[in-house]
Amino acid sequence: AEIMKGKFDHFMQKEIYEQPESVINTMRGRVNFDDHKITLGGLRQYLHIIRRGRRIVFIACGTSYHSCIATRAIFEELTEIPISVELASDFLDRKTPIFRDDVCVFLSQSGETADTILSLRYCLERGALCIGVVNTVGSTISRETHCGVHINAGPEIGVASTKAYTSQYIVLLMMAIQLSEDRISLQERRKQIIDGLHALPGQIKKVLALDKLLQQLATTQLVSSRSLLILGRGLQYATCLEGALKIKEISYMHSEGILAGELKHGPLALIDENMPVIIIMTRDSLYPKVKNAFAQITARKAQPIIICNEGDTSIPDGATTIRVPETVDALQGILNIIPLQLLSYHLAVKNGFDVDFPRNLAKSVTTE
Ligand code: G6P
Repeated sequence: AEIMKGKFDHFMQKEIYEQPESVINTMRGRVNFDDHKITLGGLRQYLHIIRRGRRIVFIACGTSYHSCIATRAIFEELTEIPISVELASDFLDRKTPIFRDDVCVFLSQSGETADTILSLRYCLERGALCIGVVNTVGSTISRETHCGVHINAGPEIGVASTKAYTSQYIVLLMMAIQLSEDRISLQERRKQIIDGLHALPGQIKKVLALDKLLQQLATTQLVSSRSLLILGRGLQYATCLEGALKIKEISYMHSEGILAGELKHGPLALIDENMPVIIIMTRDSLYPKVKNAFAQITARKAQPIIICNEGDTSIPDGATTIRVPETVDALQGILNIIPLQLLSYHLAVKNGFDVDFPRNLAKSVTTE
């Protein structure tokens, strides 16, 4: 069937707005919210091999790579398996050593990205178990991997990936939960995340309700900026990288995701009253450290836009805030990326750029 924009102006906008449903489709038939159990049928027969592996290597490009960065810490926490995350082109450039007892996971919305396919063939030749996490059924990566999980987000047309990111994120967490199901000591932690998944679609709707505010921020405060820094750390570092990528891709504004812990090692030199900054300060164990970064930049007269939780009373009065619902730390990145998707969308629209087909970019990059 032909895919239509319906009431939306652009596919990207439609896909951002689909996220309450696309995340449900990703979880459908896989998450049992009553028993707190997750079953990914595509991996069932391979679980013992994955658990025995010496390490897991995630390989991807672009937004798909960011979904790996976003979930890496939780994956390590739950599985206690060493994880590395690779950009496919660099993985190939380095001729990275890969062995028979490695488990390699290839993430790709399209399943057709050349660098990722070549990385897959490289790992197959070396005898590693190869797993695909792909949106497009029947794609090359889906066919050539030993096993895998479809993210079931539905077709994504906009070049800037949105709903695929949130669905990849959920699939990676589901994998980690399934792999750790025999660890009694983590039972409460798994339950907490699964309960979080249950509440997620409703919370995504609440974030989408911020759209008018974000449009206003984009069209008044940010549209004439030359650059935009996005600051955060820990689980939110990936949100910074992915938010900056969205802004570059479609609004053609320079944007950089900066790890707050690295601020003093260089980026702080960029900060003054004229440098637009977004800082991600949702509540997690690193909150005190992010507040420290906040103090460092405001001392240099930056006036950051703050992404924080609803009801956080410790945010200074008068600050510009984007307030998102609170969820378990493992899932907060899903709620936090959505305002940045919407901001980038409105920046691009305001500038009159072609949101769905940005210059110089392709939805799937089939050349090296
Ligand atoms: C291209 C697209 C990006 C995408 C990347 C990886 O650069 O423009 O949106 O994140 O490829 O694509 P994949 O299909 O492998 O996830």
